[in-house]
Amino acid sequence: MKDLAIGVFDSGVGGLTVASEIMKQMPYEKIYYYADTARVPYGEKTPDEIKGFVNEIIAFLLGEGVKAVIMACNTSSALALTETRKKFDIPVIGVIEPAVLMALSQTREKRIGVIANLATTNSGAYKNKFLENGNGVSVFQQACPMLVPLVERGIVDGEDVKIVLKSYLEPLKAQKIDTLILGCTHYPYLMKPIEEIMGDGVKIVNPAYQAVKDMKSMLEEKNLLSGRGEPPEHKYFVSGERQSFMKTAEKLLGRKL
Ligand code: DGL
Repeated sequence: MKDLAIGVFDSGVGGLTVASEIMKQMPYEKIYYYADTARVPYGEKTPDEIKGFVNEIIAFLLGEGVKAVIMACNTSSALALTETRKKFDIPVIGVIEPAVLMALSQTREKRIGVIANLATTNSGAYKNKFLENGNGVSVFQQACPMLVPLVERGIVDGEDVKIVLKSYLEPLKAQKIDTLILGCTHYPYLMKPIEEIMGDGVKIVNPAYQAVKDMKSMLEEKNLLSGRGEPPEHKYFVSGERQSFMKTAEKLLGRKL
């Protein structure tokens, strides 16, 4: 079991922000990454469609040989985590709870913004998690449907990106949030312009760090951490066109796949 891979999946390149964090925190773990680029963006899909995609992807990853799965996708974590945990007999970690706990540990004024896609904001998953965990926190959500298509094309900086980002972020600034959750795994690739727009007073939360930390503790607890062998060889599976995924992924990761 220890030598099996960690499964990581997303609608596209966004989950690579989580895969990179695994490489940092657990450099001996092998990653099987699934990018559902044939069906990106998930933000425009219905809850039932997303649940169906998640079932198919986890069944596929299990067939390839994984010991645990990180849903490196807020949309899937929002809509399918509970059912998936009941259905499959391996540990599955989502990104929403780690994001909420990180934000709660950072906020001073208890004014927290969440940017995400439409399916995630409509699901109410973030608001519900805050209700479960946070006392008297005000949560301001903003759906940002134009961001995923930009990141999928590798466009993560420049004036056009800033104009789009400003239109989404200004309403949150006006609410005087002091913490902003990047509630879509594609968004950490926009960290630089987001930080520039939000300014120094706002803490930006990338859920990947805590989600991977939780995965590491869970693997340790179950005695499933991989031993220090050869450097692991990761595998990437793509449901859509392979070249464009590789091109964007290599640009964002800064190395060859
Ligand atoms: N990166 C995914 C998320 O975190 C999905 C984005 C999308 O396809 O809309 O929600």
